Amino acid sequence: MEPKLIIHGGAGSSLKGKGGAEAVRKSLYKVIEDVYGKLLRGVPAREAVIRGCQLLEDDPRFNAGTGSVLQSDGQIRMSASLMEGKAMRFSGVINVSRVKNPIDLANILQDSPDRVLSDCGAMELLREMNAPVYNPLTDLRLAEWMEERQGNFNKTMAGVVAERELVTGSEARRGTIGVVALDSQGTLAVGTSTGGKGFERIGRVSDSAMPAGNYANRYAAVSCTGIGEDIIDECLAAKVVIRVTDGLSLREAMERSFMEARRNERDFAAIALDRTGAIAWGKSSQVLLAAYHTGEQMGDTLDMLDDVDAIN
Ligand code: GLY
Repeated sequence: MEPKLIIHGGAGSSLKGKGGAEAVRKSLYKVIEDVYGKLLRGVPAREAVIRGCQLLEDDPRFNAGTGSVLQSDGQIRMSASLMEGKAMRFSGVINVSRVKNPIDLANILQDSPDRVLSDCGAMELLREMNAPVYNPLTDLRLAEWMEERQGNFNKTMAGVVAERELVTGSEARRGTIGVVALDSQGTLAVGTSTGGKGFERIGRVSDSAMPAGNYANRYAAVSCTGIGEDIIDECLAAKVVIRVTDGLSLREAMERSFMEARRNERDFAAIALDRTGAIAWGKSSQVLLAAYHTGEQMGDTLDMLDDVDAIN
């Protein structure tokens, strides 16, 4: 079947200045071109998702891998997870430091009897792998943390993208990256990776390494971004997937879930695919930084006005 792909680089308040939006769009399309090309050549969904997550983690613009935000104590702790729909197996790492691509750890854990590791367990795994020590800190994220420190960390979250004009903006934004793919064999996979909310307490656990923020089965796959606590409270990714499994269309499942999100005053967004190749995205936040490939064309959600949209 025709492969499908959707990726995101976070969600949040409006992108100030055209420059910011255009740069984000360019970054997202570059990843779409690379990963969709692989899917067309027959690469399995899981592999395509890992590649997409690596590329987004490596882009300092986004809050995952290089360019991750700092926690309240000035340290970077990242979380990532992976799920393949056919195997229906979730794996992930929580609050891991000094690694370039947290998604690689989630991938290794797919074949382990212990599939979700937190900080010291993940560090132990890195040591076993002889992985090189890597510092994902960027000057912009450090400057953002220094600025927030003056304000006693009163923002709910750090900037979704690391742009000078955005960092100094006054509105809080939310970041995370995610990739959802349907391969030519009809298998779905999803990966999500984050530096967290930014400025959070030590030990806070992100939704990105939970089924609330990243979930897939044979029927659908969903990756979330936004305020992790809101995503956990709605159990958003698993809820959408289960609704599709129980017979709703992907659009209906997203519409119902985002209607509930609005009612409950949540602040998040999600991207999704189903096994028929339907692509959907939704947001209760102001913007969702997502891009997709339908098989015929690429598109993005940077200017979307509705809460939910879908392409069948
Ligand atoms: N959604 C990312 C986080 O709250 O950690």
